[in-house]
Amino acid sequence: MNYETAKQLLDKYDQGHLLKFYDELTETERSELLKQIGSIDFSLLENLDAEKRLAANRGKIEPIEAVTIDDIARNSEDYLNTGISAIKAGKVAAVLLAGGQGTRLGFDKPKGMFNIGVTKELYIFECLINNLMKVVELTDTWIPLVIMTSEKNNEDTVNFLKEHNYFGYNSEYVSFFIQDMAPSVDFSGKILMESKSRISSSPNGNGGWFSSLVRSGIFDKLTSQGVEWLNVFAVDNVLQKIADPMFIGAVICTGNDSGGKVVAKADPYERVGAMCLEDEKPSIVEYYELTDEMANQRMADGELAYKFGVILNYLFRTDKLVEINKQKMPVHIVDKKIPCINENGELITPKAPNGCKFETLILDMIHMNDSCIPYEVIRSKEFAPVKNAEGVDSVESARALLEENGVEL
Ligand code: UTP
Repeated sequence: MNYETAKQLLDKYDQGHLLKFYDELTETERSELLKQIGSIDFSLLENLDAEKRLAANRGKIEPIEAVTIDDIARNSEDYLNTGISAIKAGKVAAVLLAGGQGTRLGFDKPKGMFNIGVTKELYIFECLINNLMKVVELTDTWIPLVIMTSEKNNEDTVNFLKEHNYFGYNSEYVSFFIQDMAPSVDFSGKILMESKSRISSSPNGNGGWFSSLVRSGIFDKLTSQGVEWLNVFAVDNVLQKIADPMFIGAVICTGNDSGGKVVAKADPYERVGAMCLEDEKPSIVEYYELTDEMANQRMADGELAYKFGVILNYLFRTDKLVEINKQKMPVHIVDKKIPCINENGELITPKAPNGCKFETLILDMIHMNDSCIPYEVIRSKEFAPVKNAEGVDSVESARALLEENGVEL
């Protein structure tokens, strides 16, 4: 993109200030800025007005039926055999979402590089790979492991895993792709700049994983190798089972297009999204969207109606993902403190939110599927998220759960 085209484009979207310091920049800085301008998805800015409409636009929310722990125990042989066969036939790949910034943990490296060990080194990435290795050993099959990073943490992540020899995983089965970035704006919709030559941007949310995977060429490679199912999971749950044959088998045997691992919520107000039906299609209702009445609603058997909290471990059918990718994903707007330069080019570090970021979320993909089965897992065995440095869902609580499950720290 040259200066003239960039200027025209920016004038069209009322963002001309991005070129304010252009004359002061070096040749390299100029071409980097023009390149960055060329990569902005300006259609995101339209969502600033649409935000309220989006929130109000929920359909009719109702409880959904799940495959419960008891159902799983009853059908375990069928589920396990079906899952193992799918893995052995090369139909399953695992996708690790590791593009987040992990701000709540306050660790300045990619979250997967955090050492959760106490008397020895045990990194979050290592925990996840150890969990996946159990399935590799059970099925005697290497499962492709695809890792999504962001522009901000890609180099650190790739180097770290290489240095640690992929914690014993076969490197031929490991690949990486980088998720797209989205610009940050102030409250009047003007794009912020982190310096005179760089636009302020951040990873575009975990919902961007599929379009970025397709763009990387890895999706086509996987499907041409015969992969039919993708198990997508978060970086921070150190206890989760990955490519869990029982889960895969349950989704296949029940004829669903997708599945989501869920846990019984700790209490009606726990801050997790719950699987539900929305206008008779699978969906996820956020904890802040539940009214008091809904949060406490009970089924005939006395159980909470919205009791199944999602843990960001999903199984998707690849052909269905291709269909979904033709639709536009809802864009969420989140208020944040965004360091940026002011009109004089001086860097400011805000103490209160001064703008917003755009994110798409993987949980919205559930509603884009025609069918999704909530698959209940035992909380104390499969859910140990490392979100915060202390307190709930913290390093401390995850360590306790790892120890409870026999993992040496
Ligand atoms: P979180 O919602 O916990 O966000 O991500 P985060 O960025 O990791 O952490 P905080 O909120 O700043 O503390 C859930 C999962 O989605 C991934 C994360 O890496 C994590 O596995 N994710 C999130 C991405 O891959 N990309 C994103 O843009 C955001």
